[in-house]
Amino acid sequence: MAFGNSNRIRPRSVRRSLSLAACAAFFTPVLLTQPPGPSSFDTPESREQGRSLFQTHCAYCHGARGEGGRGVDLTTGVYRHGGSDAELYATIRNGIPGTEMPTVRATNDEVWKMVSFVKSIGAGGVVESAPGDRVAGKAVYDGKGKCAACHSIGAEGGILGPNLAGVGRRRNLAYLRESLVTPEADVPVLYRAIQVMPKTGPPVRGIRLNEDDLSIQLRDSQNNLRSFFKEELKEIRRDKPSLMPAYGDVLNAQELENLVAYLSSLRETL
Ligand code: HEC
Ligand code: HEC
Repeated sequence: MAFGNSNRIRPRSVRRSLSLAACAAFFTPVLLTQPPGPSSFDTPESREQGRSLFQTHCAYCHGARGEGGRGVDLTTGVYRHGGSDAELYATIRNGIPGTEMPTVRATNDEVWKMVSFVKSIGAGGVVESAPGDRVAGKAVYDGKGKCAACHSIGAEGGILGPNLAGVGRRRNLAYLRESLVTPEADVPVLYRAIQVMPKTGPPVRGIRLNEDDLSIQLRDSQNNLRSFFKEELKEIRRDKPSLMPAYGDVLNAQELENLVAYLSSLRETL
C-alpha cells in the first residue's frame, strides 16, 4: 500500500532508473567496458591506502600479503568470481553469499582502493604446489584416516564435518595442515561444538543448534538431535570447540603431507 499510489510519485521512475543504472554498473559488469570509478584509484597512493585497509578488513582471512589461509589465495591472479575491476568491486562490496566471504564496512572509494591493492598482488603469483603425493593421500583419506565417516566430497560421505569439495581452493596448505593436526585452531561458527553434562547420565558432545534461557539443542556425533532442559544439566562446556579428532599422533608425517596434497587438489565445488 505504501508504494501503491504510483501517479503521485513522479520521481519514482527516475529513482528506479537510477537504481537500475547502479545495478547495471555493479551486478552486470559484463555489459560495461569502462566501469565507473576504478581508474582514478589505480595510483601508487591509492594502492598503499588499499593495502592498509586490506590489513584491517581482510588480512585475518586472506593473509597479510593476500597469500590465503581461511580465505582464498589472492595472489594467483585467477579469480573464480571474475577478475575485472567491476567484478572485483562487486565481490568485495557485496561479499559472496553462501560463503564465509562477508560484505565489508567501508566506503565505495575505500572499496576501490582495495580493488587496486588486490589487483597489484594478483599479478603473476603462482598456485602453491603441495610436496606430498595426492594419490597416496586419497588412500589415507579412504582408509586409515576414516575421514568419510564425517566428511563428504560432493554427495558421498558423512555430514558431521564440512563438505570438503573445493577445500583446496578455499584454504591454503598451512591451513589444511593445521586443520589435521590442531583442528581447534579455527572452527567455523556453524561447526562449534559444546559438551553438556547432565546431572544424571553420560556427557553429550555435539554441535549447538539452538539455545535459549531454558533449553539447549544439539546434534551429537551420531547425528541425533538432542534436546535438554538447562535445569537437568550440571554444566555446559565450550572449551573443546572442534569435533574433529587431531591426527598428529594417528598419522605419520608422510601420511599427513600426502593427505594435505590430496585435500589441496580438491578444487571443484561439486
Ligand atoms: C571471514 C573471512 C573473509 C574475510 C574477512 C574476507 N574474505 Fe574474501 N573470501 C573469503 C573466502 C572463504 C572466499 C572464497 C569464497 C568461495 O568462493 O568459496 C573469499 C573470496 C574472495 C575473493 C574472490 C576470489 C575469487 O577467486 O574470485 C576476493 C577478491 C576476496 N575474497 C577479497 C577480499 C577482500 C578484499 C576482503 C576485505 C575487504 C575480504 N576478501 C575479506 C573469506 C574472507
Ligand atoms: C569425528 C568426525 C570427523 C572426522 C573423523 C574427521 N573430521 Fe575433519 N572436521 C570435522 C569437523 C566437525 C570439522 C569442523 C570443525 C573444525 O574445523 O575443526 C572438521 C574440519 C575439517 C577440515 C577444515 C575444513 C574447512 O573448510 O575449514 C578439514 C580440511 C578436515 N576436517 C579434514 C579431515 C580429514 C582429511 C580427515 C581424515 C583424516 C578428517 N577431517 C576426519 C569432523 C571430522
